[in-house]
Amino acid sequence: MVTRALDIVLLGPPGAGKGTQAKRTAAAFELLHLSTGDLLRDEVSRGSSLGQEAQGFMNRGELVPDALVGKMLVNKLHAQVAARGCVFDGYPRNTDQAVLLDGLLAELNRRVDIVLYLAVSDEEIVARISGRRSCGSCGAVYNLSHIPPKRDGICDACGGTLAIREDDREEVVRQRLSVYRERTAPLLGVYRGRGILREVSGVGAEDKVFSRLRTAMEARAS
Ligand code: AP5
Repeated sequence: MVTRALDIVLLGPPGAGKGTQAKRTAAAFELLHLSTGDLLRDEVSRGSSLGQEAQGFMNRGELVPDALVGKMLVNKLHAQVAARGCVFDGYPRNTDQAVLLDGLLAELNRRVDIVLYLAVSDEEIVARISGRRSCGSCGAVYNLSHIPPKRDGICDACGGTLAIREDDREEVVRQRLSVYRERTAPLLGVYRGRGILREVSGVGAEDKVFSRLRTAMEARAS
């Protein structure tokens, strides 16, 4: 358990397991899990004006404009100022977003404490994403080859229907990987330069990956 605010950024390519590990990390350290992908998908499913603007970018595998994502993040952070800290999953995704995040946290007398980079090969990513199924009701995520639901197409947690994400089509995944390399990967150098980047292998069972993340976080604290 942490005694002061702890703000963690989870970085990695699409399908690296950021969402899976962000949920576990947030639960273990009592932090808020803030996934811009989940927030955007929620806006899309509610048909809000933000969701309508964002949907086309997401379906093409492009980044949603910074201003839209930034507004959503500000609202969410301000609503949660009392949180012990956050696990940022999918934010920042470019250097401008990293600057915005620094500013927002500074207003709360906080900072990015540690950046955990989940390293996974492209082949593993393609295999994972093609097997991913997500629950439309509660957001639980499964994988047909590694973590299948007990009943085909049905969420174990809430009985909702499992679906393939619109942006998990192969050509869109390739576009997301290319956007990641061009726009997001340069952040690794930024955070390495600050001495707060920790690289962790994202390959292996979820428990193993989480234990590596925990070790990286504890090493930072000692
Ligand atoms: P977002 O939802 O953030 O997608 P992403 O970064 O591409 O990441 P994914 O959700 O695909 O994967 P993940 O790393 O979370 O892996 P997961 O845990 O699900 O963003 C979607 C879109 O929204 C973007 O393309 C963009 O358009 C927009 N967007 C979002 N944030 C934005 C921002 N800041 N600025 C602008 N636009 C933004 O795992 C993947 C699969 O692998 C699952 O099936 C899982 O069960 C399985 N799995 C997980 N761990 C393991 C393991 N250890 N072994 C085997 N399988 C595993």
